Amino acid sequence: MLVEKNVPLQSFNSFGIVAKALTLVRVGSHADIAAVLQDTALRAAPKFILGGGSNIVLTGDVKPLVLKVEIMGRQLVSENAKSWIVEAGAGENWHDLVTWTLQNGYPGLENLALIPGTVGATPVQNIGAYGVELQDRFESLEAVDLTSGQSFTLNAAQCAFGYRDSVFKHSSKASRTGAPGFGLASKALITRVRFSLPKAWKPVLGYADIEKKMLQSKINAPDALQIYEWICDIRRAKLPDPKVIGNAGSFFKNPTVSPEQCADIIQRDPKIVHYRLADGSVKLAAGWLIDACGWKGKSVGNAGVHDKQALVLVNRGGASNPVTGGEVMTLAKAIQISVYERFGIRLEPEPVVV
Ligand code: EPU
Repeated sequence: MLVEKNVPLQSFNSFGIVAKALTLVRVGSHADIAAVLQDTALRAAPKFILGGGSNIVLTGDVKPLVLKVEIMGRQLVSENAKSWIVEAGAGENWHDLVTWTLQNGYPGLENLALIPGTVGATPVQNIGAYGVELQDRFESLEAVDLTSGQSFTLNAAQCAFGYRDSVFKHSSKASRTGAPGFGLASKALITRVRFSLPKAWKPVLGYADIEKKMLQSKINAPDALQIYEWICDIRRAKLPDPKVIGNAGSFFKNPTVSPEQCADIIQRDPKIVHYRLADGSVKLAAGWLIDACGWKGKSVGNAGVHDKQALVLVNRGGASNPVTGGEVMTLAKAIQISVYERFGIRLEPEPVVV
């Protein structure tokens, strides 16, 4: 185990924010975790788990011990009548895994193509796009308890998946009410994830952007590879490539409101983009709300609102004069205030603020 000090994190976060990890250990295997836990000082230190850094905002140097997950490997581990079970190391690049599964004839992840980040981060926020969420393709995961060093397996129910949410986003500390927390944030490190990919594959279409592609190409029964290519095209057309313009994907979650609240907003803003959910509530497009408040293309310092998708905040200073976490959070606050003032809705940030 190598303990690195004052490690620059600019290339380890997709915003390209400058910050240092005061102490960092690269975790390539269980043995590395065991070595960390054998060291008295490292064992006691608070920990921060870093994957691809594509869903974080760094607001200063990171004082907790940074565990940079670099566990690799991807393979078909088993199959049953219904599914192929594919397993990948938490440090694998997500999009490369999606591409590999399709090349090897295991469809099912195509709608989740080109989402930045690593495999280990995908269950943490239950990534989702174009009608598919990770939980729809999830089989189980392996993790290590960072206190005891014990490995354990979690199935989907134990991960408590929600919209961009899971047990890994919640603290284990008692809440203000004194009730014990159920979360595993910073308590457990995901080492491997297994996906259940359906043998009786059916395309997930029914999204306006995909339907447009079907009409344009006149292909009405696309295969998984075709959908993968469309999703890559759609994302490239409206989402900034973090290698070119730093960003952390959608910066806010799409808020849910009651039907009454939605009807009230429709009266004032008939064009509001909204989707009725099975439980009767209504999901609103946060990008539309931000756009309607006039934020698209605007900047605060080097933090900007992407000009093709208002839900994405970007680093306008590039690598040479990068945005700071403070600028990103100032812009985010200003957006939250104007959306609240106009629509009475509180937007909740999606990335983890460190
Ligand atoms: N819209 C605007 N103006 C904008 C942005 C969006 O009017 O500036 C409208 C669009 O025209 C559309 C609606 O808002 O009618 C929704 O936009 P879009 O289809 O782009 O999806 P989204 O709700 O903004 C969500 C996910 C994305 C995912 C897409 C596609 C969240 C927070 N975001 O975005 O996920 O790729 O759907 O499924 O749920 C991510 O989480 O990082 C992410 C990129």
